[in-house]
Amino acid sequence: MQLSKVIGHRGAAGLAPENTLASIRAAAEVGVKWVEIDVYPIAQGGLVIFHDDTLERCTNGSGLTLDANLETILSLDAGAWFGEAHLGEKVPTLEQALDCIQSLGLGLNLEIKYEGADVEAVVPPILAVLAERWQDNEKLLVSSFNYAALEMCFKVNPLRHLAYLVEEVPSDWLLKLAAIQAYSLNCYYLPLTEEQAVAVKSAGYKLLCYTANEPDLVAQHWEWGMDAVITDDPRQFMHLEH
Ligand code: G3P
Ligand code: MG
Repeated sequence: MQLSKVIGHRGAAGLAPENTLASIRAAAEVGVKWVEIDVYPIAQGGLVIFHDDTLERCTNGSGLTLDANLETILSLDAGAWFGEAHLGEKVPTLEQALDCIQSLGLGLNLEIKYEGADVEAVVPPILAVLAERWQDNEKLLVSSFNYAALEMCFKVNPLRHLAYLVEEVPSDWLLKLAAIQAYSLNCYYLPLTEEQAVAVKSAGYKLLCYTANEPDLVAQHWEWGMDAVITDDPRQFMHLEH
């Protein structure tokens, strides 16, 4: 796996409207080699790059993201809320984001944003798009807070690298990582302890931490063995890549 130490969060959420192509390009412009984005399954099988359960914060639309039809969500403005310069920016489809990321030569942490139980219906279509458009396993890490979604990923294609996303490291983390042959544990940097970090690393897994926007916040984490930081403001961390 060709992971880099700095991963832009939602593209580079601090530099451009999150989870848009502009955000991905902004990450690349400051030298980022990997980006994290959220794929959100919506009504009738649509797959869009979006974080929230509702449309209000990041678009000029309203209502539940899950209920939005693809045509409507793609017609919304997803940039104006961030600033006038981004007026007219759109919510990307998964396909558009994959093409953009690959054309920039970046690695991808694709987070499956799905809290429901119907992973058998929702996850395979995401993997089918990846199978069609993203062959390079060395530059792709699929993550989710939804463990059942990761189990489904492992079942469909055991060769994809998987990351279990957690806020706090759960007591059964080792069993869970082992069962899906996970690549990494991706956890919130703040509650992580040195003991937990060392245990994850000693067990042979990579350790990624989100979402830290100032180097001081994760200075200790590097010492504990953290492999990568997921950040809204990659500019603060780019010195680590050299
Ligand atoms: O993948 C790390 C991070 O993106 C998880 O939280 O809510 O920003 O998607 P969230
Ligand atoms: Mg995310």
